[in-house]
Amino acid sequence: MRIAMLSSEVAPWVKSGGLGDVLGALPQALAARDLDIATFCPLHRAVRAATNRAGQLLEDTGILAAAPAGSGVVEGRWYAVRQPGHAPVYFLDAPAFFDRETLYSAYTAGSEEDDDGRRFAWFCREALAAAPRLMGGPLDVVHAHDWQSAAALLLPRGRAAGVLTIHNLAFHGVFGPDQLDGLGIPTEHLHPHPHDPSTVDLLRSAILAADAVTTVSPRYAQEICTPAFGEALHEDLGERGVVGILNGIDQRTWDPRRDLSLPAGYGPDQLGGKATCRRHLLRQFGLPTDPSGPVFGVVSRMASQKGLDLVAEIVAELVRANGRLVVLGTGEPELEARFRALDARYPEHVGVRIAFSVPLSHLLIAGSDALLVPSRFEPCGLTQLYALRYGTVPVVHAVGGLADTVLDAEDPDGTGFTFGQPTAAALAAAVLRTVRLHGQDAGAWKAMQRRGMARTSSWAPSAAAYAALYQQLRG
Ligand code: ADP
Ligand code: GLC
Repeated sequence: MRIAMLSSEVAPWVKSGGLGDVLGALPQALAARDLDIATFCPLHRAVRAATNRAGQLLEDTGILAAAPAGSGVVEGRWYAVRQPGHAPVYFLDAPAFFDRETLYSAYTAGSEEDDDGRRFAWFCREALAAAPRLMGGPLDVVHAHDWQSAAALLLPRGRAAGVLTIHNLAFHGVFGPDQLDGLGIPTEHLHPHPHDPSTVDLLRSAILAADAVTTVSPRYAQEICTPAFGEALHEDLGERGVVGILNGIDQRTWDPRRDLSLPAGYGPDQLGGKATCRRHLLRQFGLPTDPSGPVFGVVSRMASQKGLDLVAEIVAELVRANGRLVVLGTGEPELEARFRALDARYPEHVGVRIAFSVPLSHLLIAGSDALLVPSRFEPCGLTQLYALRYGTVPVVHAVGGLADTVLDAEDPDGTGFTFGQPTAAALAAAVLRTVRLHGQDAGAWKAMQRRGMARTSSWAPSAAAYAALYQQLRG
């Protein structure tokens, strides 16, 4: 079976969040099941920088792209990264559209420079045109991820089945219809955002056009069919039906025993290296290196989804309880400023790095005692899964994929601390429970770390679920 995955992010070349991680790992897990699979992604400026850094060859496939978009014709060229034993990744180089400093125009949406609808729809059109040539035959499945590749399900796709995976319903890709002019998308496939009839909503249109819609955890699949989490699309989703398939993690990239970003390796039976990571982390963040209270970590996009304002609200309480806080994130300017101010206010207790750094994210997750994930909603969430694998106790709002993957300490099999409401009070109570267990019962703490580390979060069962879905659609 020949399957084309379309995404705007693929780790390790380009990621702004978990979408990139998933597209870096899921295709490999599917390829291991003997599916003929390839991933298609724009050649963002970040991709070229990553291949240069890694000394990796972007192989020229000789296949060109040239399609009308807006008032002109945009040209591009397909490059490949082929590694033995890996599914290939094809990058579309089109400097006019993708040689840019940022991946998306998130903070300028609606401004004149915002041509995200046009450039990502153009990318989808060209990926569908090139895929059969690059892969050696017609496609059986077109699998699109999030709004950036949603247009792939609106264009004619021959006899291929169309699968849409929603990684985050908060982003629909809503544009003026003129952004899609000239791309050949049949107008009957274009649907507006439910609250604004003058727009085109790419994600909604793809939900209505797909043969199957999936999302990245069973709990989120249920939640998005309700008004509270449905982002105005709950009725469409309820009618179509959504399959929840839980994300796994890339166990080679995220392995505390052989993680090259760490000063020392460790595993469930020899946790000593974790103490070395903790000291190293605290030193890097300018904090005292051997505090007795727990170190709470945060690695996150700074967006309202992630509930980091709640963390900011409870910092004083966390500090009073003798906790430490280390934060790595970038995003909304107000949140960045708020955390910078906390860093300055609590020099002995709070360390903040406003940056996007993958090596530092590994060190932070390894060196922290607990990881805070107080998201208001969370389709799956990957950092809590990394934390579990690294013996770092997750403290999470029990919502979406967080509820599906972390079991509260009250349960004999508990792996973390969960709380029921996205409020500062509920988060503070969970933080205090964490401080208490950490300080009062070293044996129970270690046992909980080990239970978390024993959880595999392998991609294999989820890859099997996707493969079964493809079979069913093609059968
Ligand atoms: P989301 O996709 O909503 O951002 P996930 O938990 O699924 O949430 O995935 C986030 C991914 O992005 C993880 O791999 C996390 O480590 C990474 N990440 C987030 N912020 C940063 C940062 N500032 N630096 C490095 N990695 C980050
Ligand atoms: C999204 C979600 C996150 C999920 C990731 C990968 O960005 O916010 O919960 O883990 O996609 O599926």
